[in-house]
Amino acid sequence: MTQGQSRQAEILVVGGGIIGCATALALARRGHTVRILERAEPGGLATHAAAGILGPMNETDRPGPFLDLMRQSLALYPDFVSGLIEETGLSPDLALDGILAVAPRASDRALLERRLAWQRPIDPSVTLLSAPEARALEPSLTGDFDSALWYPKEGHVFAPRLIKALLGALSRRSVPLEQGVTVSRIERNPSGTLSVTDQAGNVREAQAVVLAAGAALSAIDIPGPPVRIHPVNGQILAVRSPGSFYRRVVFYPPHGYFVPKKDGTVVIGATEERIGARTRVTPAGLLEFLAPLAPIAPEILGHPLHHTWSGLRPCSEDALPVLGPLAACPGLFVAGGHYRNGILLAPVTGEILADMVTGLATPMARAFSPERFGRPSPEQFF
Ligand code: GLY
Repeated sequence: MTQGQSRQAEILVVGGGIIGCATALALARRGHTVRILERAEPGGLATHAAAGILGPMNETDRPGPFLDLMRQSLALYPDFVSGLIEETGLSPDLALDGILAVAPRASDRALLERRLAWQRPIDPSVTLLSAPEARALEPSLTGDFDSALWYPKEGHVFAPRLIKALLGALSRRSVPLEQGVTVSRIERNPSGTLSVTDQAGNVREAQAVVLAAGAALSAIDIPGPPVRIHPVNGQILAVRSPGSFYRRVVFYPPHGYFVPKKDGTVVIGATEERIGARTRVTPAGLLEFLAPLAPIAPEILGHPLHHTWSGLRPCSEDALPVLGPLAACPGLFVAGGHYRNGILLAPVTGEILADMVTGLATPMARAFSPERFGRPSPEQFF
């Protein structure tokens, strides 16, 4: 495309990460003409760094719309994955074989008991286990700990394979993904279409635009006040493990976890660092989640180090997802701020955004409107 050239109106999804790809696929499956614009590598900012945990109950401390959204997305996962396998033959290794949240000391048990009290009415399968009971489910917990909460319906998926399968499904549906396109500005035209300008000065015309640019979303100039998304660096590592010694996802305080993958690696994470739009891996960062793991599952630290890496989680002002239309610019939608749960929330986000773009009601998304941050009403812009 040459500078200043316009393309026929279609739905543009800005961002080729897990959220952009899931949204584009949901739109394509409903018959829309969709194109993805990606600044670098698909999934490069957050998706490829994700441990792929599908664990709603550990990601909030209360019932409410956020938990409901996560649980709804978890419920969609088996069909979401089997649809991808059917379309592409690629399996993202979905494993819903349970998550344990460990209390290292007796004094930590009160926290698990408080969680159990509000979570059990929502899911009666959540159980408080003694250390031996937890060890029977996860034999690598050979160290000292007090107890664990057991979430038998939760699990994980292999995020890099998931996005590969999504890209395969998009390609089979002839959804173009343009790489190397950094969107800089979006404007509404008098005709009602949107103009999407990239850093090279190319202008694409769109019938609707979904902003799914992860931690890069705030850099895009849009009508009205910006949607503020902050990058949060997460350092993570993987060790190579023998056989099938590791079975389940395990959370441990203050914010550690390990995730055994089917390829024989165990992913261990993660830091939470607000250091701007850059990634880093540091010994101090890795120690943050390795040191508390040592007393609980000491053998893990003896395995060969496979890889260390980091990625940028996209975090909104209240750390909750931002889903919906922008009142200041009809036709422009946000699918952002998924923070620690982009992989978990991808299926439900795709369906919600496809509903929104199609004009269908989305009651589940009301709590996540971009307008909740006190954005002025549309009248104030015209
Ligand atoms: N979902 C885990 C993390 O963001 O570290």
